[in-house]
Amino acid sequence: MKLKDKVALITGAGRGIGKAVALHYAREGAKLALCARTAAELEETAQEIKAAGAECLATTCDVSLEQPVSSFVGEAQKRFGRIDVLINNAGVMTRPVPLAELEIRKWDYTMAVNLRGPFLVSKAVLPVMMGQKSGAIINVSSSIGRGVYANFCAYAVSKWGLEGFTQTLATEVRSYSIRVNSVDPGYVATKVTGYHGGRPEAVTDVFVFLGSDESKSITGRMLSSSGWKQEIGKNRG
Ligand SMILES: NC(=O)c1ccc[n+]([C@@H]2O[C@H](COP(=O)([O-])OP(=O)(O)OC[C@H]3O[C@@H](n4cnc5c(N)ncnc54)[C@H](OP(=O)(O)O)[C@@H]3O)[C@@H](O)[C@H]2O)c1
Repeated sequence: MKLKDKVALITGAGRGIGKAVALHYAREGAKLALCARTAAELEETAQEIKAAGAECLATTCDVSLEQPVSSFVGEAQKRFGRIDVLINNAGVMTRPVPLAELEIRKWDYTMAVNLRGPFLVSKAVLPVMMGQKSGAIINVSSSIGRGVYANFCAYAVSKWGLEGFTQTLATEVRSYSIRVNSVDPGYVATKVTGYHGGRPEAVTDVFVFLGSDESKSITGRMLSSSGWKQEIGKNRG
């Protein structure tokens, strides 16, 4: 088991990629603290994790709101006594439109969930990891956060921002042995893509790797779920 007794906090674990990663983490021996806004989906994930024999705390929480984030992280710390891995996965994408047609409230909503969310959750978790002098933060980015795509301005800027957040934070907390990396999961069949793309279960290996001690020298990296082994030179010679 690659994550035996590690405590992982995963945002947006009610469905899609976050749920698949949470279930893989459970099978690798992790204890889980999960959040999303929809209670019924979150409860279903929690039941599946408990059925797999893992401990799980599931709390409804909107990652864009300071007080609920603070309560969720506080609850996780109280329940498990530590937090080893944070996966900032919760994210939203509104319908792609040219910038002139993009409603201001949709820009604000995208930034609130995709950028303010990881900031708030990381800010709440970091004192715990700094106290432990260890931890791994994994930010879920996108190819749209690493390339140029017309009509995706709000989503693209939020993910480019998340890459900047990853790089900056990785440098800032390196001396505490806290690692910060980002992952592009590829094109995955979830609500975000109208359920087109690959299976969420097929993209989880890189998240297990980055949360485990196997990746303890890796920080400030942008990995992809399909090419991560080549990207870190794991398949070399
Ligand atoms: N699917 C893809 O092809 C793809 C590609 C690149 C990147 N991504 C990224 O992958 C991540 C996961 O997306 P997904 O594809 O798995 O989409 P999804 O199926 O829609 O899942 C998103 C999860 O995040 C939760 N969430 C959304 N807003 C939230 C908020 N404000 N607070 C807390 N939880 C929130 C959702 O639950 P509630 O709505 O109930 O809160 C849900 O559990 C996102 O960051 C997305 O940008 C996906």
